[in-house]
Amino acid sequence: MKNVSNKIAPIRSVKGTRDLLPPETGLWQRVEDESRRTFAAYNFQEIRTPILEATALFSRSVGEDTDIVMKEMYTFDDRDRESLTLRPEATASVVRAYIEHSLFNEGRLHKLYYIGPMFRRERPQKGRYRQFYQIGAEVLGSDHPSIDAEMLEMLVLLLERLGLSGFSLLLNSVGCSKCRPQYVKTLRQALQSVKANMCADCQRRADTNPLRVLDCKVEADQPIIERLPHIVEHLDPECRQHFDAVTADLDERGVAYTLSPRLVRGLDYYTRTTFEITSSVLGAQNALLGGGRYDGLSEMIGGPPTPGFGVAIGEDRLVLAVAEAAKDKTGPAASQLDVYIAWMGDAALAPATVLARQLRRDGLRVEIGYEPAKLKKSLGLASKLGARFAVIIGEGELSTGRYQVKDMSAGAQKELEPAQIAEYLKAALAK
Ligand code: HAM
Repeated sequence: MKNVSNKIAPIRSVKGTRDLLPPETGLWQRVEDESRRTFAAYNFQEIRTPILEATALFSRSVGEDTDIVMKEMYTFDDRDRESLTLRPEATASVVRAYIEHSLFNEGRLHKLYYIGPMFRRERPQKGRYRQFYQIGAEVLGSDHPSIDAEMLEMLVLLLERLGLSGFSLLLNSVGCSKCRPQYVKTLRQALQSVKANMCADCQRRADTNPLRVLDCKVEADQPIIERLPHIVEHLDPECRQHFDAVTADLDERGVAYTLSPRLVRGLDYYTRTTFEITSSVLGAQNALLGGGRYDGLSEMIGGPPTPGFGVAIGEDRLVLAVAEAAKDKTGPAASQLDVYIAWMGDAALAPATVLARQLRRDGLRVEIGYEPAKLKKSLGLASKLGARFAVIIGEGELSTGRYQVKDMSAGAQKELEPAQIAEYLKAALAK
């Protein structure tokens, strides 16, 4: 629009947030539909929790000491001074809901999934936003290693169904509250003699939170980190047995993985299995999804002991990866519109409207313009909209009672009675 006055500066979206527009939203829907279908096959049901939560929920579960809680949360005091936070993740919310509704009393497993926005004040870049979307799944009520393996199998199936390849499943165990403190002590000791040669962050973390040193991305620190002791070599017998059972189960299911001794993840609630799937098409932000076991999380937020295992997929990144994969194979996205109805002359509008309603009821995707237009303009619009067919209704068609059905790519035209058009189009579109 050229004539808009420029006196008022247009208001723009907030940094790190974005509008998702069609046709890209079609891809988001496809990713969500495929996720729901795959989750249903593994007997997951949907849970919807609020986006606003009490701040304490995240400081207690994700951890006071983590980047998320220390510097990335959108936290504010409500008018009655209650501290609220826009959720930076949803596992804590799901476990809160599980406790609040006493789902543990039902004496069975709960398999829950969610899809929705999360908020973290990170530095925006490709694949990293301040409002981003996660597709997550959580299993509450069992610490059986097959729960871990089954979910990983499900994730691989989902990625394959979405046409992805070239991803790797990285796997580790971070032990439990019994064996991890001993490992952290060993790690802290090992760091004392080398930390002087490491980056400033690592020097600080070596004392405050030595596990985080393993996450460091600074190039010069990598050879030092490679030589630090591995947590999997310090697991207690129960954690060791659990991890061996998970890997044996994955082998049986034919799910490929790479052991990744440095994978400790950025949230404090994890116990035992941790994992990520990375994708080679994503660039710097290559973690497509991540998760693990959190057997102590329920107790951290005041619930009964409840083992849990879950994942969150970064939907923004998954959509990016699916778009990349589709580019190689199928070219541009398929047309969204089946038919455009082109009518000429006032008398044709009413029958055109009736036909549009019939075709829509028959499940076809139909557009009709309401402004009078010449045939050439209507057909121009039909191709701009990507319509596969156009139905032409003018004076001649009204007098014979047979409409012209035009195949927009082949150019061929066929004359049909209105009642025959839906069947004809459905058959042609199915080819
Ligand atoms: P997370 O690793 O913090 O785990 O996030 C999971 C995924 O969300 C990441 O692998 C990434 O794909 C995506 N993600 C994270 N931050 C951003 C961002 N700023 N922009 C775009 N995508 C992002 C969790 O959130 C845990 N709740 C996962 C879990 C579920 N663990 C157990 N159950």
